[in-house]
Amino acid sequence: MVKIRAMNRAREEFTPELLAVALYKGESPRDLGEDAAGVVSGGDFGGKTGETALLYGQGGLGPRLLLVGLGEKDLFTLEKLRRAAATAARRARSLKLQSAAFSLPALPETAIREIARTVAEGAKLGLYRFDRHKSEADDQDLETFWLLADEGALEEAQQGAELGEKVAGGSVLARDLANEPSNVATPEYLAQRARKISEEYGMELAVLDRASIEEEGLTGLATVGRSASNEPYFIALEHRGGGDSAPVVLIGKAVTFDSGGISIKPSAGMEDMKFDMSGGAAVLGAMEAAGALDLRLNLVALVPATENLPGGDAFKPGDVLQMHSGKTVEIVTTDAEGRLILADALSYARRYEPSAVVDCATLTGACAVALGDHASGLMGNDEDLVAELKTAGETTGERAWPLPLFGEYTEQIKGDTADIKNSGGRRGGALTAGAFLKEFADYPWAHLDVAGTAYGKKGNAYTTKGATGVPARLLIEFLLGRTR
Ligand code: BES
Ligand code: MN
Ligand code: ZN
Repeated sequence: MVKIRAMNRAREEFTPELLAVALYKGESPRDLGEDAAGVVSGGDFGGKTGETALLYGQGGLGPRLLLVGLGEKDLFTLEKLRRAAATAARRARSLKLQSAAFSLPALPETAIREIARTVAEGAKLGLYRFDRHKSEADDQDLETFWLLADEGALEEAQQGAELGEKVAGGSVLARDLANEPSNVATPEYLAQRARKISEEYGMELAVLDRASIEEEGLTGLATVGRSASNEPYFIALEHRGGGDSAPVVLIGKAVTFDSGGISIKPSAGMEDMKFDMSGGAAVLGAMEAAGALDLRLNLVALVPATENLPGGDAFKPGDVLQMHSGKTVEIVTTDAEGRLILADALSYARRYEPSAVVDCATLTGACAVALGDHASGLMGNDEDLVAELKTAGETTGERAWPLPLFGEYTEQIKGDTADIKNSGGRRGGALTAGAFLKEFADYPWAHLDVAGTAYGKKGNAYTTKGATGVPARLLIEFLLGRTR
C-alpha cells in the first residue's frame, strides 16, 4: 500500500518522479515554467474537472509535470480535490513510477489539515484495487505519494495526511470485505475480521453463535439464518474511548448472500447480492478507523450476519415471528430479510442506553431507484441526528439525502395477523422499510439505505467497479464530529 507523507519542495535532494498541480478552469499556472503556460494559453489544457496534461523535462520542477483540472472555481468542493488527487495517483501508477507529489492548493477558509486529509484520501482510495483472486495480479504499486506544503504548514499537512490515510483505510477495509465473494466473506469470516480489529485496538468483542442468538431471542436473525449451512453470527464490538458518556451505536446489515430465500430473486444479476453485507462491512471499516484514530468516544458496532437462502428448513411467507422486542411480524416476503435482522439489532441496542444509533444497510431496491448511485437514503426519528449525518455526507462526498417517515408509511405496514408486516408493497418501498425499523428504535436513531451507493457498475476517479466503501467515511466523519 502507498505511503502518504507531507514534504516541502525546497528541501534538498527532493525531486519527485512526477509533480501534480491542480488548476481551476481558466487559471493560468504560476511558477510552473513556459511549457505549462503554453499548454494553458494554447488551449490544450482548460482545467475542466478530470482533465489532465502531462509535460516532460521541467527543469527544476523535476522530470514530469501533471496538470489536473479542478473545474470552475466558483463550483469548487473538496470532493473535486479528492478526485483530482486520485487522478494524479492513478496516472503516476500507470506510468509505473515509484513516487509522485501533489502540490497542496491554498483554499480560503480551509485548514491545511483538511486539504491534506482530502488529498491523502483521494490518493489512497484512487489506488485501491481488488485483485487478490487474480492469478496474474499487476503488482506495480506507487510507493510514496508526497503532499507538498510550505515549510510552516508541514506539520499540519502531515497530520492531515495521517488522518486521511486512516479514514481511507476504513473505507478500504469496507471495500475489501464487500468485494469478497460470499464463499469467502461468510458470517464467520466477518466475525474473524471483527476479532482482528478487537485485538489490534483493544476493543471488547462478543460473537453470538446460533445457539446464543436463539437464547438471546434475536428471532429475526435466527429465522433468516435458519436454513443456511454457513452459520449466522451476531457481532458486537465495543470501543471505549469516552469515559462514562453514552455510546454511539452503529448497526450494519450483513447478509453475506441474499438469494431472496423462498421468495427467490430472479437469477439475472443475483451475483450482486454478495454485496448485501455492505452495511456491515462499512460499520467494521468505521470501527477499524475509530481504533486507528483512537477516537475519544464510546462506540458500539452491532453486525447481524447471515445468508438468506431457501431450504427445507427455511422460513416462509405467511409465517409470524415474535421479535427480540416482543413485537410480532408477519412475513409477506422472505426477501425483506434485512429489516428483520436489523430490527433485532435495534432492540438489542437499547441495553447500551445510546446517545444515538445509526444503522446502514443495502435495504431496498426502491431506494436505489429513487436516488440512483449518487446519494444514500437517510431517514430517522431525530432531526438533529439526520442533519449531522447529512453534513457528514457532504463533507466526505458520500452524500445522503433525507426521506420522510410519515405516519402513513407506518399505516402501510400494519399486519393482518400480526402487529406489523415485513413489506408494505412496491409503493414507497424505501420509506415503508424505514417505517418498519422505526418501530424498534426508542432513542435518537437514523437509517442509511445504501442499496444504490454501496457498490456500482462503473466506478469514478476514486472508486472502482464493485464495492465503494460507502458509507464508511460518512460514519467516520460523523463520529469525528461527535468528538469535536
Ligand atoms: N438486499 C435487498 C435490497 C437490494 C436490492 C439491494 C437491489 C441492492 C439492490 C433486500 O433484501 C430486498 O430484497 N429488498 C426487497 C424488499 C421488498 C421485497 C419489500 C426489494 O427491495 O425488492
Ligand atoms: Mn432481500
Ligand atoms: Zn437483502
